[in-house]
Amino acid sequence: CLHLDDLSKVLARSRKFDELVEAWRGWHSISPPMKPKYARYVELANIGAKEIGYDDVGALWKSSWDMSPADFEADVQRLWNDVKPLYDELHCYVRARLQKTYGKDKVPDHAPIPAQLLGNMWAQEWNNIYDLVVPYPKEPALDVDKKLVAGHWDSPRMVHQGERFFTALGFDPLPDTFWDRSMLTRPRDRDVVCHASAWDVSSAGDLRIKVCFQPTEEDLLVAHHELGHDFYYQRYFKLPILFQRGANDGFHEAIGDTMALSVTPDYLKSIGLLDAVPKGDHTRINQQMKMALDKVAFLPFGLILDKWRWDVFAGKVTPDQYNAAWWALKQQYQGVSAPVARTADDFDPGAKYHVAASSLYIVYFLAHIYQFQFHKALCQAAGYTGPLDQCSIHDNKQAGAKLMAMLGMGASKPWPDAMEAMGAGRKGDAGPLLEYFAPLRQWLADQNKGQQCGW
Ligand code: ASP
Ligand code: SER
Ligand code: ZN
Repeated sequence: CLHLDDLSKVLARSRKFDELVEAWRGWHSISPPMKPKYARYVELANIGAKEIGYDDVGALWKSSWDMSPADFEADVQRLWNDVKPLYDELHCYVRARLQKTYGKDKVPDHAPIPAQLLGNMWAQEWNNIYDLVVPYPKEPALDVDKKLVAGHWDSPRMVHQGERFFTALGFDPLPDTFWDRSMLTRPRDRDVVCHASAWDVSSAGDLRIKVCFQPTEEDLLVAHHELGHDFYYQRYFKLPILFQRGANDGFHEAIGDTMALSVTPDYLKSIGLLDAVPKGDHTRINQQMKMALDKVAFLPFGLILDKWRWDVFAGKVTPDQYNAAWWALKQQYQGVSAPVARTADDFDPGAKYHVAASSLYIVYFLAHIYQFQFHKALCQAAGYTGPLDQCSIHDNKQAGAKLMAMLGMGASKPWPDAMEAMGAGRKGDAGPLLEYFAPLRQWLADQNKGQQCGW
């Protein structure tokens, strides 16, 4: 009986088709028993939402964005339409490369990609198959995992490194209690939720995280993500309790990720996690690919999880349709297909933490857009004028001051005001993300010439 940690490792590292199917199937066997309970939860939560004046829970969730629920949905769709052409190019290229590994019988032309082949249990981020799709394999590998293992980086050290990124910008260090009260590794003596999270337990500066990090680059980036939450708390915990929130919940998810965009190969080299990074177009495209497998691949998944829940809460999708509706969205937006035949008794959405835990998800979609806006604005504040993918705000006090001022507003102003205070405009804007990935997009378009893209 394997933990999600172990099964995720199989998804990340195995290149054997049947082994991947088995690990995927194993994890997805945990959720069918949750299905009736989920249906009951939807009923009960909707009663609660109605009692406080909303049509359903989806309407409640869509009403904290300083616009109407309908406008919010349209806004999210607008952003998706802007990034979809880039996603489609990435999908097309990755499918062609997977055909080389697994054969066209397993990965057919013009069809969705089998979901177990993308390196992640939910096919949400594809960075773990970088080695299969690397544009220029002869360039030095950008392999941080190897260095983390060789250097015996444990979880506390990874978190300390993340903290240093923030203090170098001018933030106060984390409180001593953080190191006593956080959970940084999976305990051996009890069952715990290992899905990473960050907390201000007292709403008064009792900052903590709860994580089970392994020495991987992915977890080093999650360390920055979680600390982004804690340093946001640090900036606003003295405000009145109603203002102790992100400008919107997408901001909260975007702060640590924005810092992680400055964890560039040069920065990694400076902390001993990469060997010399040669300059040049090939290395740059490799690095862009690595980033796109993480950030661009995620976009449709970030969108559909709550699309599914909005429809469920609104009664448009009934319990007997839960699983089919889920896969219809996965196919339509992500262009992935189920590894094995599914039935209405399966409950694949329940195999994702945020569904089981009733945690918002569209916030991650927005955060993936916002973080490039924030990155661009902070690079500008730092006086940087070069291309976005080469910018790091590491150690830059002007950028730090701009960021801290925005975080310190908490939820005291409408979120467009907070965005503007950072110099990032007044609305969600896919422009900076597209600008960041422009070199890769051109490269992908060349690679995909003559291919029949889409599914
Ligand atoms: N990093 C995790 C995820 O985004 C948890 C979090 O949001 O802090 O699901
Ligand atoms: N942390 C979120 C998740 O695990 C988004 O990346 O799904
Ligand atoms: Zn988060």
